[in-house]
Amino acid sequence: MAEIGKDIEKAAALLSSGKLVAIPTETVYGLAGNALDEQAVLSIFKTKKRPSFDPLIVHLGDKAQLSDYVKEVPEELEELASKFWPGPLTLLLPKRGVIPDLVTSGLDTVGIRVPRHPLTRELLQSLDFPLAAPSANPFGYISPTSALHVQDQLGDKLPYILDGGTCEVGLESTIVGMEQGQVIIYRLGGIAVDRIESAVGKVLILPQSSSNPKSPGMLKSHYAPGIPMVLGNLDELMTKYRQKGIVFAVLSFNRSFPELSQELQFALSPAGDYDEAARNLFQGMRFLDRAKVEIILAEELPEIHLGKAINDRLRRASAK
Ligand code: TXA
Ligand code: MG
Repeated sequence: MAEIGKDIEKAAALLSSGKLVAIPTETVYGLAGNALDEQAVLSIFKTKKRPSFDPLIVHLGDKAQLSDYVKEVPEELEELASKFWPGPLTLLLPKRGVIPDLVTSGLDTVGIRVPRHPLTRELLQSLDFPLAAPSANPFGYISPTSALHVQDQLGDKLPYILDGGTCEVGLESTIVGMEQGQVIIYRLGGIAVDRIESAVGKVLILPQSSSNPKSPGMLKSHYAPGIPMVLGNLDELMTKYRQKGIVFAVLSFNRSFPELSQELQFALSPAGDYDEAARNLFQGMRFLDRAKVEIILAEELPEIHLGKAINDRLRRASAK
């Protein structure tokens, strides 16, 4: 099992010698390695069993380092970086040669982000290389939002997990790029669409396509628990599965169900708060994934604030 601790120097020493370390970010935990070291990058892909066509995000300690790794930054994306970094925003930008092709799966653009978790910021600022880090989960499974989630799934493959507590956002970063002068959101995430639009005007949300995944975070089935999940109206679904005699658990936005035992239900935010719902989403999916049931019934949230991004994850989790 991995050692879990808060020792930044230890994490830095391991990373500097080419090893991988799980790091906390405000979105989800990352499986980090030296982004400029091809061997370290290869072991990231291997450790998570991630297909090599799925590129990695590069994490910087400071926005000022951006020009070392990318050729240019369009005005609109510069605006977003100033507004939302450090924070849950990833920008797709034309990469410089120092970033290995392995990191970007051969693409000309690299995904860059400056995370805001204080431990990881301090770690990044103490290193003389950036960190490539996908979410620290086996490919296709739910992203980890605590050190224990990482330990459960990848603990036997890692020397160290830097423990930064529970992730405060709880959803992966919003991925934004540009094509032909148009700002495009490639993955809904921790920064809501309306906040992006208030900075740069109307954006295009690229509909997910599983035939041509520009970004496998856009693959239809992803972020999924082990137990099948269906989405719909909870009252209708519960009646239907009860009649069929199928044992179920329920994931709701804010409702509780007195007739169901506590292990069989999870409300994302009893107060109906979108930020809280986002923070609890993956924890809730993991919690119900341990219930001895045949199916998880879940409902979509209203499509406002982070509701859109939460619904995106719920739909992918239920698309098996
Ligand atoms: O919040 C996050 O973004 C977390 C934390 C650890 O930073 N990271 C994360 O990484 O979610 P990952 O690898 O699980 O998801 C990154 C997504 C993938 O779907 C990948 O395909 C896409 O970003 N991506 C990365 N670079 C890309 C590029 N150059 N072009 C298109 N998509 C890219
Ligand atoms: Mg991921």
